Amino acid sequence: EKGGYEHFMLKEIYEQPQAIRDTFRGRMLVDQGLIKMAGIDDHIDKFLNARRILIVACGTSWHAGLVAEYIFEDLARIPVEVEYASEFRYRNPVIDKDDILIAISQSGETADTMAAIKMAKDKGAFVFGVCNVVGSSISREAHAGAYTHAGPEIGVASTKAFTTQITVLTLIALQLAKKKGKISTSDFHRYLQELDAIPEKVEKALSSNDHIEKIAAIYKDAPNCLYLGRGFNFPVALEGALKLKEISYIHAEGYPAAEMKHGPIALIDEQMPVVVIATRKGHYEKVVSNIQEIKSRSGKIIGIVTEGDVDVHDLADHVIEVPDTIEFMTPLLTTIPLQLLSYHIAVMLGKNVDQPRNLAKSVTVE
Ligand code: M6R
Repeated sequence: EKGGYEHFMLKEIYEQPQAIRDTFRGRMLVDQGLIKMAGIDDHIDKFLNARRILIVACGTSWHAGLVAEYIFEDLARIPVEVEYASEFRYRNPVIDKDDILIAISQSGETADTMAAIKMAKDKGAFVFGVCNVVGSSISREAHAGAYTHAGPEIGVASTKAFTTQITVLTLIALQLAKKKGKISTSDFHRYLQELDAIPEKVEKALSSNDHIEKIAAIYKDAPNCLYLGRGFNFPVALEGALKLKEISYIHAEGYPAAEMKHGPIALIDEQMPVVVIATRKGHYEKVVSNIQEIKSRSGKIIGIVTEGDVDVHDLADHVIEVPDTIEFMTPLLTTIPLQLLSYHIAVMLGKNVDQPRNLAKSVTVE
């Protein structure tokens, strides 16, 4: 059942190239330069006239929502707000019939996300579900939706659900950007071609596994760890920290790299590993200067960099390379080494990787 892998989590990490392919198959017609998604196309006027998009979710799905916020606003120029479902449902939010609420949930059964949907529906919003489990409660409650086609995710720590959620949300953003006339036809085609190449690039990112395992062995006993990223990769930093926390029980925090100097930098000493996402696209010089700040305080730096990187190589204690891609697609690649790093650390510490203590795969109570 684990297909020769020691844990479901590792199997699911390795399934990502295929899961991403399955998610865009039939929806992205690269040769014709088209995206076809019934859930969007059937309601296109609602989307084109939406005043804003609200995204609600919990945990890893909320991180996928944050990545989507950056992509939607950048490409489709639609205002987006992302909120924890548990906060949204209890704070009397302003919602009206021109709002679209996108609920993201792997299981489709998360109680807080479900309650947020019901509230938004009562107030007249159009509700769109992004779920993995077919026929799940949230997918049935939504007015429309698009499934991720990740296949069953058994490991409590979400991996392929996250990257396929980002894939679906990227397709939606591209479709809306095109229909709204916010991107040129040539850019649209270029983006489709690049998305098509992502599974192969994920494969390449996975090939650093042995190197990542060695880094894991060095830091497995650290009591704390910081994750930093900017722009599209800020939510990836949050997700990297969540992965480490939930399966290895090491305290970890994700931060936007520039927020360091507003507090967390006080934590840096020679004991503190800092994972910095520093791909060449996306505020690279600024991230390099953040790395210098950490280095001058003796922090240990693990850089997630673009293939062939030179600058971070010179500064960091370790680098893990991922293939080059268009900036807004980098989260699909930078996530991979962070999943593997947490996985190996948890295994080395003898933790129950697939079923961490105190956690349930689907949180059906509030
Ligand atoms: O099924 P959902 O996507 O609604 O679940 C949301 C969270 O409970 C889930 O992502 C949780 O944070 C995972 N354990 C993260 O790995």
